Amino acid sequence: MADLKKEVSRRRTFAIISHPDAGKTTITEKILWHGGVIREAGEVKGKAGSKAAASDWMKLERERGISVTSSVMQFHYEGLRINLVDTPGHQDFGEDTYRTLMAVDSAAMLLDAAKGVEPQTRKLYEVCRLRRMPIFTFANKMDREGLSPFDLIDDVEDTLRISCFPVTWPIGIGATFKGLYHRLERKLLLYSRASNQVREMEVESWTDPAIAEVVGSSLFETLGEEMELLEGVLPPFEPERFQRGEISPMLFGSAKFNWGVDTLLRLFEQHAPSPQPRISSNGDVSPTDGSFSGFVFKIQANMDPRHRDRIAFIRVCSGEFRRGMKARHMRLGREVRLAYANQFMAQSRETLDVAYAGDIIGVGDPGNFQIGDTVSNGKGFRFLNIPRFSPENFARVTIQDALKKKQLLKGVRQLVDEGAIQMFCDPIVGWQNPILGVVGELQFDVLLYRLKDEYGLEARLERLPFSLARWPKTRQGQPIEGPLQGGVDLYQDLNGRPVVLLKRDWNLEWAQDKNPDVVFHITSGD
Ligand code: G4P
Repeated sequence: MADLKKEVSRRRTFAIISHPDAGKTTITEKILWHGGVIREAGEVKGKAGSKAAASDWMKLERERGISVTSSVMQFHYEGLRINLVDTPGHQDFGEDTYRTLMAVDSAAMLLDAAKGVEPQTRKLYEVCRLRRMPIFTFANKMDREGLSPFDLIDDVEDTLRISCFPVTWPIGIGATFKGLYHRLERKLLLYSRASNQVREMEVESWTDPAIAEVVGSSLFETLGEEMELLEGVLPPFEPERFQRGEISPMLFGSAKFNWGVDTLLRLFEQHAPSPQPRISSNGDVSPTDGSFSGFVFKIQANMDPRHRDRIAFIRVCSGEFRRGMKARHMRLGREVRLAYANQFMAQSRETLDVAYAGDIIGVGDPGNFQIGDTVSNGKGFRFLNIPRFSPENFARVTIQDALKKKQLLKGVRQLVDEGAIQMFCDPIVGWQNPILGVVGELQFDVLLYRLKDEYGLEARLERLPFSLARWPKTRQGQPIEGPLQGGVDLYQDLNGRPVVLLKRDWNLEWAQDKNPDVVFHITSGD
């Protein structure tokens, strides 16, 4: 038990949330460099065609330069074992990203200092806020001209309605950037474009004249004015408020030049929460609970095209995982062997023998798992709050060669199990001719690409004019049984629950008007 507590307390699991192009790949690379995982810049960043990205393993990603899957990177830092869960940055992959956020305990929000809070960041932040997750903010690209630090703080506070606490403060910006003043440690951190190293200088406070000697009198004066303004209005840093997700400690820097990434990691080491309890149908499950438990937040098929495998990613929530152990699959109500587990760093997988709360394990899955499934050795319960989002784009998938239809359905079904695509049917037609729904358009391109690449199938999509899916339920939350009034057609989801597919908001209003006792849910609710 003592060991379990120790192992849990040294684990941290986090994700970086950002809008595409804010610099997530670049900062990931620098974090991994600090964590000793990579030795050379360029090992992660594969966009410009350099080396394969450590976090991108599918060909499509490499060709298009986008990150469509999430992977997990583990590293050690100052005695901590850190799991960095990569989230896809493209806006069309929102759903996958949202679920990934269920698997972490804190997040770092990365902003482009010239752009402030962008739409994708806002959406992701909302998910973190729902869980009251502690969030660090990193204003990136300070090597370029951008918004003033005050404007950035205002932007975050106004747009996201969270208070910021600037932990560091930039001295200069763009061409004049000299370094950061660390308000909590009373240190000057001096960086240069020429080297990866930081020069640290202890100072009395921001009024210390020694600062003027290294950054020049003009920047020293500006720092003084800005600090006076700041100290006048800001209360001291309260770590408890950060833990409750009420304030976000803010840092400045440049991922490209490795400025301030060290301060982010240090702050993370000091304040990021260890694995937190998870809500289940039986109440909170503590990470130090002796019996093993976890939930599936992602399924990925064919990661290694030579082996046609399927991997279920499980966030360990309590107890000890041992490779090859058996655990109860709560939805199926039977034991499954958690066959093999891998740590992931793109295509190189390392086998993992033991894991604790906070760790992410990848287990071989012959087809038993769905997103949200619970595995445990404890009493019967299910983890709650794994969201499923309502699709906004719909199509039927067809294939010219009728003989390949069965194969098509099998391939589609496997990709549906990964969770980014939902499948519906018209009960009169049946599952032979399913309707597919996705949150983002690009998922359809990924579907066609993968059907071709992984299954050799030339499928076509016939777009359907729907843009909303809603699950009609009674006021008591039960799926409705009879038909709906007003000529509203009912479809079925994969679990046989009734769904309505509608063209516009207006059609939803009509359906609601005609069926006043029915509640139209945005998710299937499990
Ligand atoms: P993403 O994963 O969030 O989409 O962003 P990524 O790291 O790929 O960075 C997007 C672009 O922003 C890249 O430029 C990258 O070099 C640049 N960038 C990242 N961090 C910084 C920074 O701190 N300062 C500056 N000036 N630029 C930064 P690119 O032109 O698309 O690619 P590349 O040719 O530079 O590799």
